[in-house]
Amino acid sequence: MISLAQNEARYALPTPGMDVEELRSAIAASPFWFHRFDFAGGLTTPGADVSAVKLHALRLPERLDGLSVIDIGAFDGYFSFQAEARGARSVVASDWYAWHLPGHCALENFRLVKTALGSNVEEQHADVPSLDPERHGTYDIALFLGVLYHAPDMVDYLRKLRSVTKGMAVIESLVDMLDVDEPCAAYYPAGLLNGDQSNWWGPNLACVEDMLRRVGFAQAQFIGLWDVNQRDVLAGKPPGGKLKTARAVWHAYV
Ligand SMILES: C[S@@+](CC[C@H](N)C(=O)[O-])C[C@H]1O[C@@H](n2cnc3c(N)ncnc32)[C@H](O)[C@@H]1O
Repeated sequence: MISLAQNEARYALPTPGMDVEELRSAIAASPFWFHRFDFAGGLTTPGADVSAVKLHALRLPERLDGLSVIDIGAFDGYFSFQAEARGARSVVASDWYAWHLPGHCALENFRLVKTALGSNVEEQHADVPSLDPERHGTYDIALFLGVLYHAPDMVDYLRKLRSVTKGMAVIESLVDMLDVDEPCAAYYPAGLLNGDQSNWWGPNLACVEDMLRRVGFAQAQFIGLWDVNQRDVLAGKPPGGKLKTARAVWHAYV
């Protein structure tokens, strides 16, 4: 288990591309932030996501020099920009729902941060089931963070992830049924989990690991759990008791 006490590290990004006051006003003008960016000089975005804690839990290599990266389900782009900051040769931020559903402003947020950082991260507008290595490319590192439990068909999404990965995939997901040893997944009727109709499945660890192997990853290395009993917390219950749900991270190799 990755201890939260270890997660004090800050991952501040410099902002050579924009005046800080201008950036402050633009951040305040956005109606919704998911990612919590931490810019040099103490400027932050008010996202509900504990982005720096998640980044720590991913156990990404400190340096990604020379590597190509795709961040599938990039949202505001926190992990895309962190990959670029670690020296990746090229980074593609890929998304569909958060960038296209009416009322969402994640694409505008992404573009604002890109300008602020003077970044070269590229936009890719793609629904995961449509991902095709011929059209969308293959990557040394594929980030698949917070997407699996939004998949109506988890195996199909993981096949698509495998098809664009030529080195390592980093998978981060909500996991459920941790008290069951056999591979299985909890099914969430529409809106049950966090009032979000886009949540479908909470797989357990054995389920994710077997699916990763079945879609063609040669090795799936479990990295750790973080944010434990998160389903109870989302339902307003205090954390504690038997461990049933959490967020988990794997590194899968082709
Ligand atoms: C919970 S957010 C996770 C955001 C980010 N990866 C992170 O871990 O902080 C889920 C993201 O996956 C994207 N997503 C979900 N299903 C998708 C699909 N079928 N195609 C493309 N993006 C998808 C959403 O638009 C959203 O940006």
